[in-house]
Amino acid sequence: MITLDTAKNVLKKYGQEHILAYYDELDNTEKQKLLSQIEVIDFSVLENLNKENNCSLKRGKFSPLGAVTIGDIEKNREKYHSVGADAIKNGKVATVLLAGGQGTRLGFEKPKGMFDIGVTKELYIFECLINNLLKVVDDTGAYVPLYIMTSEKNHNDTVNFFEEKNFFGYDRNYVKFFIQDMAPSVDLNGKIYMESKSDISISPNGNGGWFSSIVRAGFLEDIKKRGIEWINVFAVDNVLQQIADPYFIGAVIDSGSQSGSKVVSKVSPNERVGVLCMEDGKPSIVEYYEMTPEMIELLTDDGELAYKYGVILNYLFSMDRLEEIVTEKMPVHVVKKKIPYMDSNGEFITPDEPNGYKFETLVLDMVHLQKSCLPYEVERCKEFAPVKNSEGVDSVDSARELLKQNGIKL
Ligand code: UTP
Repeated sequence: MITLDTAKNVLKKYGQEHILAYYDELDNTEKQKLLSQIEVIDFSVLENLNKENNCSLKRGKFSPLGAVTIGDIEKNREKYHSVGADAIKNGKVATVLLAGGQGTRLGFEKPKGMFDIGVTKELYIFECLINNLLKVVDDTGAYVPLYIMTSEKNHNDTVNFFEEKNFFGYDRNYVKFFIQDMAPSVDLNGKIYMESKSDISISPNGNGGWFSSIVRAGFLEDIKKRGIEWINVFAVDNVLQQIADPYFIGAVIDSGSQSGSKVVSKVSPNERVGVLCMEDGKPSIVEYYEMTPEMIELLTDDGELAYKYGVILNYLFSMDRLEEIVTEKMPVHVVKKKIPYMDSNGEFITPDEPNGYKFETLVLDMVHLQKSCLPYEVERCKEFAPVKNSEGVDSVDSARELLKQNGIKL
């Protein structure tokens, strides 16, 4: 444990001395707790508030990237399935569920995966995902290892829920949980918020640190021992997410690419989705708000949108490359959010408007660290039903509708 003097020096360096303002009032346990938080926080993320370090402002030269289209996939169905299913049967594929987010937009106080999307019966988001994975087990006869990333905030709830629901019929020997890292939240002037006199405001540091967190959790050995060569990473909130999809895995392996990404055709040029493209000769994702009007409207010779393929947070990465890049620094994004905090009167405030910044690394930035990435087109209405909001676009209602369309009883 660091000493009070060391803590003071660190805080001074980053202009955060106010964190110890109430230190003398705290009892011994609270003092220890506060010092241990100061010890684990990576204060260097605060440097990203400086405009020169802002990764979002430092982009290269973008160019379009085509995809393996639904038509191409149809023609190669058998080949892709055979290559992908073989990889699964031979234990070369694992999956990682990113479930460390806070789901603030949905406004559900438990982990998002515990949300019951059923209407006449219970059907939890986690259950939908496990059902989708069980289809692969049926198809290939092999269980696929599933690593679930949680955060300090939702770990116990998540693990207890899986236990309580008996892993929704999945073989629990193939499921492992690991906890992601946390980062401090700051006010608009860069001062770290406190949640109480002894608690620093910290939150999950984005989904980009999933591989380093798996390594820190000690699972690298397990992954290697099992002979895993490919990891399929996916988001918790897409209830139609097809995980460890043999066709996708087969297409990526067959193409010789270092990675792959499921993509959907944009519904309109201005759809608010990140687009898979090239940046300075390497695969990359350009966010909708980073695209110029020319990029948005640009057409190919066939009259199709040049920047056409949106990502749905379903990526396949090779273990070889993941191990090479694990020590590389990921860009840190500074995101404006609503952050509950303790004010100068010691009162706990829940703001209605964004009042500060969080620091996040993003899994999509891992794509740019790959030499190649295969965009693999899927049918939106069959594979993309995100639950981000409680109503409107990408909501509980729209996801329910899509589940019904796909014959899933709610
Ligand atoms: P989102 O970007 O939708 O964030 O996450 P969120 O925290 O779930 O929701 P909002 O923005 O607060 O409403 C995309 C995926 O990445 C995971 C989420 O659980 C989801 O599967 N994620 C996000 C993490 O695992 N850790 C994080 O720190 C952030």
